[in-house]
Amino acid sequence: MENQVSQQFVVEGGRRLNGELHIKAAKNAVLPIIAASILSSEDIIIQNVPDLLDIRNMLVIMQSLGCKAEFKNGNIYLNCRDAKASLVTADLTRALRSSIFMLGPILSRFGEVELGLPGGCAIGKRPIDIHIDGLRALGVKVEEKECSIVCKKRKSIEGEFRLKFPSVGATENLIMAGVLSNGTTIIYNAAKEPEVVDLSNFINALGGRITGAGTNTVVIKGVKKLYGAIYSPSADRIAAPTYLAAGAITRGCVTMRGISCATIGSCLNAFEAIGCSIICGRDFVTLKLNRRPKTISKLITTPHPGFPTDMQPQIGAILSLAKGTSIITETIFENRFRYALELQKFGALTNVATQSTEICGVKQLKPAEVVAEDLRGGAALTIAALATNGKSIIKDIHHIDRGYEKFEEGLRSLGASIVRI
Ligand code: UD1
Repeated sequence: MENQVSQQFVVEGGRRLNGELHIKAAKNAVLPIIAASILSSEDIIIQNVPDLLDIRNMLVIMQSLGCKAEFKNGNIYLNCRDAKASLVTADLTRALRSSIFMLGPILSRFGEVELGLPGGCAIGKRPIDIHIDGLRALGVKVEEKECSIVCKKRKSIEGEFRLKFPSVGATENLIMAGVLSNGTTIIYNAAKEPEVVDLSNFINALGGRITGAGTNTVVIKGVKKLYGAIYSPSADRIAAPTYLAAGAITRGCVTMRGISCATIGSCLNAFEAIGCSIICGRDFVTLKLNRRPKTISKLITTPHPGFPTDMQPQIGAILSLAKGTSIITETIFENRFRYALELQKFGALTNVATQSTEICGVKQLKPAEVVAEDLRGGAALTIAALATNGKSIIKDIHHIDRGYEKFEEGLRSLGASIVRI
């Protein structure tokens, strides 16, 4: 970890990106799927997985619970036959927000769990009240301690719960909590994100009985036992448009393979508004931009199928070069514009407020030394550096490693000049 904290990218800007990349499984789909694997005692293989810090940290949590969890040749091999509901300490859970996913499945299988509080990107307050209120509504006794959460089921986990906001993580946690049960769980105002669909498809492949994932009502009919499976999660709908954004900002032409336009539709709308031309294949997306980007008068992040908050900073980086003023409104997280302050070091004209940021495009960005303060913001700053006319440094790139597998190698294969030191 010490080493990773001190690593940085050195980017020589000014090169047009051209070429293609293969997109692997979505980090945000893989993480809850790993957690859900504790619901089964049989062999599970998850395919086409990117080697990411968050995923490695999640596997360490699984091992601490007694699961066999191995990452080999892009696949994850899991077997939780010998798992126990032992305490998951805060030093493990602090490493990532997704550690909270362990609550539901451990409870479902063992009836009790003590879990350290989660960590994750510093993009504002990230409470877990919806997870906890949901579990309570399904018959779980929850005690919140200073550094951990202790949960115990009263009888069977079942019942109905309406989320006050369609939280992705809370929807996934409650789905997993209801799987091994004698009763039925119904979740209203559920998140409709594709990762929720992936999680239910995975659990159903193991023998679960979940319907409605991808709509706002999800029904989980309890089963006695789950089996094993080999599963390929969907391609990463944030990684792909991030590389497309790198292509666009350098006025290049890049192709992402292993993903379809339908999977990243709301991002493509933004790219088209900027002036990009897009070609949609059955299993690929090509993007080309050969002029100065156009502004987007109003870009608003919203839950799926709206424009995803996780792509907001990358599009913000492109808009810093558009002719005119764009306004981005963030409705999901409260502190997701720190990158926009860093963008100023490249000469971008940003007027940052809590919920909205105004970006007045400049003709040319200049090289700078900037700090990645969170995962997607760090990716956005790296993309901005590609469009400068000189040598930039991005510090604290361990944040970027949490969500992009060898980001610099991907960009280099498209023709960027970027090294990790
Ligand atoms: C997931 C994604 C993350 C993405 C986010 C929104 C994973 C691993 N991460 O995060 O990349 O940016 O969805 O699409 O899938 N909230 C509460 N109480 C809760 C839970 C959430 O108030 O109990 C709030 C959060 O603070 C935030 C909003 O709801 O403001 C959305 O959070 P949520 O949908 O839960 O995001 P995550 O599951 O953490």
